[in-house]
Amino acid sequence: MSSKLSTFICQNCGTETSQYFGKCLSCNSWNSIVEEMKSKRSKNQDIKNSQKAIPFNEISSKKISRFTSGFNEFDRVLGGGIVPGSVVLLGGEPGIGKSTIVLQSAGKISLNEKVLYVTAEESLEQVKIRWERLDQKSIDLKIFAETNLYLIIEEIKRVNPCFAIIDSIQAIHNHEMESSQGSVSQVRECSSELQNLAKQNNIALLIIGHVTKDGALAGPKTLEHLVDVVINFEGDKISSHRLLRSIKNRFGSTFEIGIFEMLEKGLKEVKNPTSIFTNKENISGVTTTITNEGTRPFAVDIQALVNKTFYSNPRRTTTGISINRLHQILAVIEKHVGIKLAEFDCYIATGGGFEINDPSSDLGVAISILSSLKNIPPLANSSFIGELGLSGQVRKSNNLRAKIEEAARLGIKNVIVPILDEDLNDHFQNSINIKEISNIKEAVKYALSQ
Ligand code: TYD
Ligand code: MG
Repeated sequence: MSSKLSTFICQNCGTETSQYFGKCLSCNSWNSIVEEMKSKRSKNQDIKNSQKAIPFNEISSKKISRFTSGFNEFDRVLGGGIVPGSVVLLGGEPGIGKSTIVLQSAGKISLNEKVLYVTAEESLEQVKIRWERLDQKSIDLKIFAETNLYLIIEEIKRVNPCFAIIDSIQAIHNHEMESSQGSVSQVRECSSELQNLAKQNNIALLIIGHVTKDGALAGPKTLEHLVDVVINFEGDKISSHRLLRSIKNRFGSTFEIGIFEMLEKGLKEVKNPTSIFTNKENISGVTTTITNEGTRPFAVDIQALVNKTFYSNPRRTTTGISINRLHQILAVIEKHVGIKLAEFDCYIATGGGFEINDPSSDLGVAISILSSLKNIPPLANSSFIGELGLSGQVRKSNNLRAKIEEAARLGIKNVIVPILDEDLNDHFQNSINIKEISNIKEAVKYALSQ
């Protein structure tokens, strides 16, 4: 038994209200509230299906079994492979390559398991053309072109695959609801029905969702709590590199990344990411840092360009690090190195536009800025690791030992790091010169006066 209720939902942030407003009270966006019908399940039905609470010791825990996605980079982001019965949300901007990666993965998985690919956006012929371009072999990959949720559910039940893909959640709809395809309530309703299906039948489900940078199509954002794993597929469309980044993972660590390159014949894994984010030249304004993304440290270049400004307010722009971080680093340089930067424009870009969230890149940013300003190349064959404190000290970095190991593996000769808790010289047996420094002034003296 079910009855229909009317509700008002912001299409931008998903907030529900009982009446219409021109402006969302939660995210302040204008004209984003739409009236939608919501179906309400009866209370008696829920009580009839309810279960009883049980003590922990009666629950048997079994080890999670997984199967491979066919890509090592994808498996790592998933926490070691795909878990049967799990629901994964793969988000990203339109055109970034979501359909491509899942089709390649589906092809590889289907060599061992039964796979169903539901295409709600493209026709069978379009998918076939992409398939031929990708040069894939398959044994048991089935494809189904449909947008009606109930027909999709019936087909998934009939085929009973080990792995099913929905491409995409915005393109399917539940006819029982009056709201339009892609609206927040459709996306939510369709996802929860699909999630129940996956859990009941132990089918691993991958749902694709489009997310734009400004969050305009934020439907999938509202699903993040519903699914087990949320992965973002990101990259600059101009460059060919793409990153898979885990945002939420009930079966593994978050903030893992996987790196791919988009080529003529689809996506290829990048096994040695350092090769694409660094450029071993020793020129002014460029340093290398070792950043930690997920469990993996790797080297990324930081480039700075510092020029006399022609504007009343100097320009400060960044690619790959946050603009607030740059403002903070400039303030630390002014105060603790004693160099006035108010008359200079400052541009920062990371190698390949790679987004760095690790604060230990601060030291590299500061040295790049001063190297560009003074037009002096930094100490050759070096890497800079350390977070800058507001009082000019170089603070400890997480996973420092692994970062130094990565630098040594890459053949870097000097690492400039914060004061260490342990003596690592024996461990590295002088394969790399470890220079410990306590503040920015010392680092500048060491790196830029040779
Ligand atoms: P697609 O997977 O359709 O993106 P999404 O599903 O995220 O919207 O990828 C589209 C882009 O990828 C398109 O601009 C063309 C490019 N591409 C390649 O460069 N090589 C390939 O082999 C394929 C299949 C696509
Ligand atoms: Mg697509």
